[in-house]
Amino acid sequence: MESFYVAAKLCRVFSQYAQPSLRARAALVPVLLLAFGAARAQAPTPLYVEACKACHGRAGISLNPTIPNLAGQKPAYLESQLKAFRSKERKNDLMNAIAAQLNDADARALAVYWSSLPAVPADANGAAVSAAIHSRMDFPRNFPAGFTVYQTLIEDGVMTKRYANAVAWEAARGGRELPTGSVIVQASYQVQRDAAGKDIAGAVQSYSGMESRTDWGKDIPLLLRNENWDYGLFGADGKRRDELNEAQCLACHKPIGNDNYVFTMKELRQASAHSHPSS
Ligand code: HEC
Ligand code: HEC
Repeated sequence: MESFYVAAKLCRVFSQYAQPSLRARAALVPVLLLAFGAARAQAPTPLYVEACKACHGRAGISLNPTIPNLAGQKPAYLESQLKAFRSKERKNDLMNAIAAQLNDADARALAVYWSSLPAVPADANGAAVSAAIHSRMDFPRNFPAGFTVYQTLIEDGVMTKRYANAVAWEAARGGRELPTGSVIVQASYQVQRDAAGKDIAGAVQSYSGMESRTDWGKDIPLLLRNENWDYGLFGADGKRRDELNEAQCLACHKPIGNDNYVFTMKELRQASAHSHPSS
């Protein structure tokens, strides 16, 4: 039994080590090997754990009422749930996107890691530490100056307009990838009727946005990273809502990396293709 465990752990360490992106972790291997010799062998920290922490808490004790704890949960259960999210047998947009990026060995290693942490930590308050990701995006100054509307929708009494800045607009128009410097803003307005009975935008309710800037991706955990995009929510006054955990935005937009992480990329391409240059 004991030797089976050691072999399984070694196998995980080396399968992780074998991935080119993990070369930088070479220095960790001796530490992990040493841990196996210790009386209380600890599960090796699998790749990707940082991403989990952003939503499930640093110690696997969640601060969010809609996100479960992972610490101390049974490993077989965690593993089977990760696989169920991966196959979409269990549905959740965030976990489906996360689990889609895991292979069987990752799922097992993550299950072993999280189950090894105490369900009831000695210092319960200390363990409930958030690792939420905070937005760095500022609301664009003088918005909507410099932006062009590419889509307008009305749903449930709310008008949504989607805007692209000149950098994003020109790239889309030229059929190119959206480069750093691109900004997309989504504005929600109350719907009003003008004298002719036509629906028009009334007061702004809120804004959400995404912006790509050089090096913004480098501090974002791998499973959540959307290249250099960052996401933000803003009030009608343009003030950023810092209570937002951006991990949710990153997780859900992650699967559409082939479209620059922009769900409405097709609409942006079409609108810009039929336009004159933006400036
Ligand atoms: C963007 C936020 C987010 C991230 C990042 C995230 N999770 Fe989750 N996770 C959730 C939410 C939300 C649920 C609840 C899903 C539901 O309601 O079905 C959940 C549920 C789970 C469950 C099911 C637990 C249970 O009790 O049934 C497992 C297992 C899990 N996550 C593992 C992970 C692992 C491992 C990682 C890191 C690789 C991770 N999660 C990263 C948001 C996240
Ligand atoms: C559950 C998945 C999900 C989450 C979570 C999510 N989005 Fe989106 N987002 C979408 C979808 C889908 C669209 C396209 C909307 C449509 O089709 O009407 C979209 C569109 C957008 C757009 C317009 C550009 C585009 O991608 O089409 C912005 C900007 C945006 N989201 C920002 C955010 C921000 C900020 C957050 C976090 C607060 C967030 N999103 C969280 C799914 C998500």
